[in-house]
Amino acid sequence: MKVRVTENYQHMSATAADMIAAQIMDKPDAVLGLATGSTPLGTYNELIRAYNKSRLSFSGVRTLNLDEYVGLPQSHPQSYHTFMEENLFKRIDINPDQTFIPNGMAEDRNKECRRYENLIDEIGPPDLQVLGIGRNGHIGFNEPGTSFASTTHLVKLADSTREANARFFQSKEKVPTHAITMGITSILKSKKIILLASGEEKMPAIKHLLTGDIGEKFPASALLNHPDVTLIVDELAYPATEEENDAE
Ligand code: F6R
Repeated sequence: MKVRVTENYQHMSATAADMIAAQIMDKPDAVLGLATGSTPLGTYNELIRAYNKSRLSFSGVRTLNLDEYVGLPQSHPQSYHTFMEENLFKRIDINPDQTFIPNGMAEDRNKECRRYENLIDEIGPPDLQVLGIGRNGHIGFNEPGTSFASTTHLVKLADSTREANARFFQSKEKVPTHAITMGITSILKSKKIILLASGEEKMPAIKHLLTGDIGEKFPASALLNHPDVTLIVDELAYPATEEENDAE
């Protein structure tokens, strides 16, 4: 895993956006794997800015999102469909028919999981996957204990994840209890992965990741098995070394 420590959130976002832009310039019909959440917002803003300056076109790009809540209609303000539409898709020249997100309203959820995994294989795997990380080490909605062999599946969200996401809902009770997420195996199919982390609340998770210990109790550690992962982290999320601590 390559590690790039950036000064702050803005630099982390610009660094990630540069890598994504380079991917699209290299391959205009690239498949991007995308994440929601607070962390990639700055990256998406940088991409929108590059598009507005006519430096980048998404007209040939296809996207596969990591996950979606179960039971929220696509039009719900907190659905990941709405999130992607508002924060990226409607502000760039991507073809809406070429953007894919699991359908959290599907009646047969297991069938939907199989359909989505097949889609990853059909149009993907992503040339570049963008990931955030949960405080408990989750990636996508793969909570601690998820099998590394998992493909797209239905998950019950951890209490800590529902608490963390309650800021977007009126209360924790309103946060859906389940989601459909790409599994660890699905994520590792991507050719290249960038993992973003910003802010001191993510520091313990990054510290855990950097120990190099691989195990299902800490889902992000599966990334250490992938040949092309870049962790882009800001200084607040980057653990000080023992020597730095001693110097303080
Ligand atoms: C989002 C996702 C999650 C988030 C993670 C971090 O699609 O899959 O794994 O990346 O929960 O969320 P933020 O960025 O809000 O801290």
